[in-house]
Amino acid sequence: MSAVGIVAAAGSGLRLGAAVPKALVPLAGRPLVCWAVDALRAGGVQDVVVAVPESEQHAFATVLPADVQLVVGGATRTDSVRRALAAAPTGARAVLVHDAARPLTPPAVVARVLAALTSGARAVVPVLPVVDTTVVVTEDGLVSSDVPRDPLRRVQTPQGFDREALEAGYRRLEQLGSWFTDDATLVMSTGVAVHTVAGDELAAKVTVPHDLRLAELQVAR
Ligand code: CTP
Ligand code: MG
Repeated sequence: MSAVGIVAAAGSGLRLGAAVPKALVPLAGRPLVCWAVDALRAGGVQDVVVAVPESEQHAFATVLPADVQLVVGGATRTDSVRRALAAAPTGARAVLVHDAARPLTPPAVVARVLAALTSGARAVVPVLPVVDTTVVVTEDGLVSSDVPRDPLRRVQTPQGFDREALEAGYRRLEQLGSWFTDDATLVMSTGVAVHTVAGDELAAKVTVPHDLRLAELQVAR
């Protein structure tokens, strides 16, 4: 199935605490955003649009392939994806939304998301089981209850959508005037069923310095 890829790369990376925006931080000498774009393409996505911080457009244009389209991102991830979606070339029926912060996402995960869309899913997310005991903690720091772990999943990216379904979600967002942390939750709120495929631990998000050290170890293997 033909799909356009959107890479959210407009965050600053406060928790990573690097001197440059997180998507430009090198992993084995290459910026995270380059790894993320390569993963999408290796998994079967043709056109890619990357949302970048307004002040860093030149830096991103320098490191990314010339056929990658750049758009200025917004104040939140949702706003960045909304802007990239509005600028994405039409023609492809599917859109895959990916985080620049997931550099080692295996192309097989991308391919699984595409395959689910080809099979008729209008929204699909890669997921992994929750392996730790998970609890609810009160404001005082006391454990108030445990949470049954079996039905819980951690959600990764890329998340795949029928383009019309994703656009309908973003139109609804404008009416609601709120924001969501995740595109699939937004699309689900419009009544679309969100399917799941197997994620991969390698698709972990680089959030704090420890995550970057782990990614470096993976690349060095
Ligand atoms: N993102 C974005 N636009 C924003 C905020 C985030 O495109 N306004 C992107 C980030 O670049 C990242 C992805 O969304 O690839 C996931 O967000 P997160 O891991 O939170 O990255 P940052 O917001 O950059 O990091 P932090 O929250 O630590 O500042
Ligand atoms: Mg953030």
